[in-house]
Amino acid sequence: MLTAAAGRGRPEPGMAPPEETRARLELAGQSHLLRFWPQLAPAERDALLAALALLEGELGAHCRRAAEARARETGALERLDGRLEPVPAEFLGSVRSSEPATLAQWEAEGFRQISQNKVAVLLLAGGQGTRLGVAYPKGMYSVGLPSGKTLYQIQAERIRKVEQLAGEKYSTTCTIPWYIMTSEFTLGPTEKFFLEHNYFNLDKTNVIMFEQRMLPAVTFDGKAILEQKGKVAMAPDGNGGLYRALVDNKILDDMERRGIQYIHVYCVDNILVKMADPVFIGFCVSKGADCGAKVVEKACPSEPVGVVCRVDGVYQVVEYSELSVEIAQMRSPDGRLVYRAGSICNHFFTRSFLETVAQKYEPQLKQHVAIKKVPYVDEEGNLVKPLKPNGIKLEKFVFDVFQFSKNFVAFEVLREEEFSPLKNADDASTDTPTTARRSLLAQHYRWALKAGARFLDENGSRLPEKPNLSGTEDPPAVCEISPLVSYFGEGLETQMKNKDFYSPFILDESKTEMLEDARMKKK
Ligand code: UD1
Repeated sequence: MLTAAAGRGRPEPGMAPPEETRARLELAGQSHLLRFWPQLAPAERDALLAALALLEGELGAHCRRAAEARARETGALERLDGRLEPVPAEFLGSVRSSEPATLAQWEAEGFRQISQNKVAVLLLAGGQGTRLGVAYPKGMYSVGLPSGKTLYQIQAERIRKVEQLAGEKYSTTCTIPWYIMTSEFTLGPTEKFFLEHNYFNLDKTNVIMFEQRMLPAVTFDGKAILEQKGKVAMAPDGNGGLYRALVDNKILDDMERRGIQYIHVYCVDNILVKMADPVFIGFCVSKGADCGAKVVEKACPSEPVGVVCRVDGVYQVVEYSELSVEIAQMRSPDGRLVYRAGSICNHFFTRSFLETVAQKYEPQLKQHVAIKKVPYVDEEGNLVKPLKPNGIKLEKFVFDVFQFSKNFVAFEVLREEEFSPLKNADDASTDTPTTARRSLLAQHYRWALKAGARFLDENGSRLPEKPNLSGTEDPPAVCEISPLVSYFGEGLETQMKNKDFYSPFILDESKTEMLEDARMKKK
């Protein structure tokens, strides 16, 4: 168990490390962590001792587990083959194949639960966003929309709008608390960002940030890595660290106090995420589910999304890195992928399910192995940035609790309306700032056309219309609609029907605002 004991046994400058620490590390096979002790300044020694004290007796076991888990991973792909089956149709709801009346019923049920203050959203935001290559939390990223909004702002505004819609529908005022799981890397900057932006006009007391734990990175032969002479390389314990973090930070108690019963958990990078989606919530509640997952049909066998399926009869997400090529490529007679239920990291949980998991099952969650390039100091004390992966990070995954569900459901939604993740920098071909921006603007363009809008170029000529525009094409007109105006394309007719708009154009909450600047400049 982690107990802070910073400062205990603090040495005088020039002194040897505390005997207790030295002996403990020796026993754990980790005495190399004190290799540079004589060279450390007093403050660095204090910091190192504090970090080691936080790991308490767990360090040796963790390092052993990491090395063993890596050794076991070899050949794991073959072992899954033959044990998999797709989600049976009866447990898979679908936006595409449901009657509009059924979808409306689910939506009404979701709004009803929201209006009664029973729904919360929980953002997983402890990741380091390495692939995107920015040094700050991904939620602070702006993909270059005309409004300049960041992912966090878009999400905050969607919460406000869906609260308003639920309130109007059921004549009440209601709140959707926003829980945000951060890590040592993301907590500080995220808090600062929200403060600087006045919590995007949400009530600060309803935005609850908490921190997940960190774990040491380990070499292939089971040694914790020193990233500086006095600093152990640490990484967040994966988004499945959520379940320990919920307990560590008393989040489940907070949810209980607020009367929350249903939680929509989602990952930070999907620009189209429907916060507290009433249809999804309503679907899961109507089915009596304790746990649910939103999926989209996989675009191609190699798409890097986990697949929701059953393994030995138990629901699971098999990560893209853990699915063999042969299985990923299997097709049904109709030509569709057999394992096509791509997880978009949007999950539904009841609070009581989360409580059971946190109290009972968390220790059983699998530790997944991620092999990474971890910078380290060599024996001479030089900083080395390895060219090849050299370190093991152990991570738990948020969806590994599906196996404990008593009533699991999956819900397939339309990719162009709900899924466009930001994973990579613009030099990649998929899931980039450009593709995220394009998906959002394509969606807003479709909504505007459906509401009866007409678009003009800077000379006032009517632009061609593409009502079936896919999310992968640039729209003929640029039109961004604030989430405060419309959550999912609803209610736009009054402002847009039979009206002409110059492209580019922003529809914000108070007015229809043309981007005159761009137009004037061109004149
Ligand atoms: C994730 C899903 C994958 C899904 C894909 C869809 C997991 C493990 N994988 O993949 O099944 O198909 O999204 O886009 O969920 N995070 C933390 N703490 C951590 C690590 C990550 O909070 O220690 C958060 C990230 O900030 C992010 C989310 O978890 O919001 C997803 O993590 P990421 O590592 O980006 O997973 P992907 O590989 O993109």
